[in-house]
Amino acid sequence: MITVAKFTRMIDGDKQDYQFLEHLEREYASGVGERLIQALQALDDSLSGYQVTRLEHSLQSATRAYREGADIDWIVSVLLHDIGDRYAPYNHDQYAAVVLAPYVREQCRWVVEKHGIFQRKYYGEHTGTNPNARDQYVDHPYYSDAVYFCEHWDQLSFDPDYPNLSLDYFKPLIMEVFRREAFSPNVLQHKIQVEMANERVATKRNNAV
Ligand SMILES: [Fe+2]
Ligand SMILES: [Fe+2]
Repeated sequence: MITVAKFTRMIDGDKQDYQFLEHLEREYASGVGERLIQALQALDDSLSGYQVTRLEHSLQSATRAYREGADIDWIVSVLLHDIGDRYAPYNHDQYAAVVLAPYVREQCRWVVEKHGIFQRKYYGEHTGTNPNARDQYVDHPYYSDAVYFCEHWDQLSFDPDYPNLSLDYFKPLIMEVFRREAFSPNVLQHKIQVEMANERVATKRNNAV
């Protein structure tokens, strides 16, 4: 039994080294949910100028999804959709999509990955960027989902008076998603399109609060 890899160059490692490291990697990967909760907390101290912090914006977006009856993949994806703001300000959408990719439905990953382009609809004309850049995806099966995501969850979630749910409330959902088997076909659900709003679930949730 070893407690540290024997090599200093990867080429010199043997089976014992790599089995030992693989075990540690699996253990470390199981903590990703916890680390992402910390990353969300750190969004309270990012991009300024809006009336809400990036954490508040994320919670507000996710709360809207929750109250509309969205499923767990949507809620967690919405919660994390701006997680890249701190480290990838010019491609924060792709950053979040890469983090989510092994753990959520392909549909949600795609929408998060493209949300930056779709959001331009709301401000492109004021910044000299093309508000219709989203049109390139008009024939994509998830196009309407990305439109809905931006219209109903993202672009309107900058309201300091909105009564959002707390990060604590969402923690169990984050933990559940990031404990899934990474890249499992059951998780990725290739080509499956799940509704974003579900009235029956929404009514149940809203009556329970
Ligand atoms: Fe964003
Ligand atoms: Fe956003």
